[in-house]
Amino acid sequence: MDILYIENKVKDWHRGESSGHDFSHIERVRNNARKIALHYPHADVNVVICAALLHDVADHKLIDINSRDGVYEMMEKWIKEAGGDAITTQHIIHICQNISYSTRDKNKSLSIEGQIVQDADRLDAIGAIGIARTFAYGGAKSRPMYGEEDGNDTISHFYEKLLNIKEMMNTPIAHQMARERHLFMKEFLSRFYDECGIKKD
Ligand code: NI
Repeated sequence: MDILYIENKVKDWHRGESSGHDFSHIERVRNNARKIALHYPHADVNVVICAALLHDVADHKLIDINSRDGVYEMMEKWIKEAGGDAITTQHIIHICQNISYSTRDKNKSLSIEGQIVQDADRLDAIGAIGIARTFAYGGAKSRPMYGEEDGNDTISHFYEKLLNIKEMMNTPIAHQMARERHLFMKEFLSRFYDECGIKKD
């Protein structure tokens, strides 16, 4: 398969996006997915890489929800143009449709390739890069950094989501990578409170 063809289509698609779903996110997910896949010699690396590249093309933050079917058709066309056969194309689309947080209960049906891409995407939500993306996203949504009584601030997002991600990993290798990132976020939070003069138990 012509992976570069898909990569260029995706690069164009994500151009100008600055709320954490820019192409650098896609590249990090692709790289981590490739790293995890090394531990699974039976996994189809082409599927892993293509799904990693395409996983956020139909993200609700980037497209109008009503145009989603058309976006999946466009992705199918790209995969076919890159030389993917019908089964590979359906496999990649299925992964892209089933790895997001909102559909995570369905992940029992994810193939090993899908589990790898999901782990790589989740890893990018935590650690130093996760912290940076969370504040970038909060800024794009005009959210205060901390101290909102209704919890609508960026620091609250760590407790609602980021600190739970470590336990959601599918593969042992990604769980190990997540543990280090998790510890770094805890250290960050403790220093953040310290510098803000907030007492936390
Ligand atoms: Ni993503």
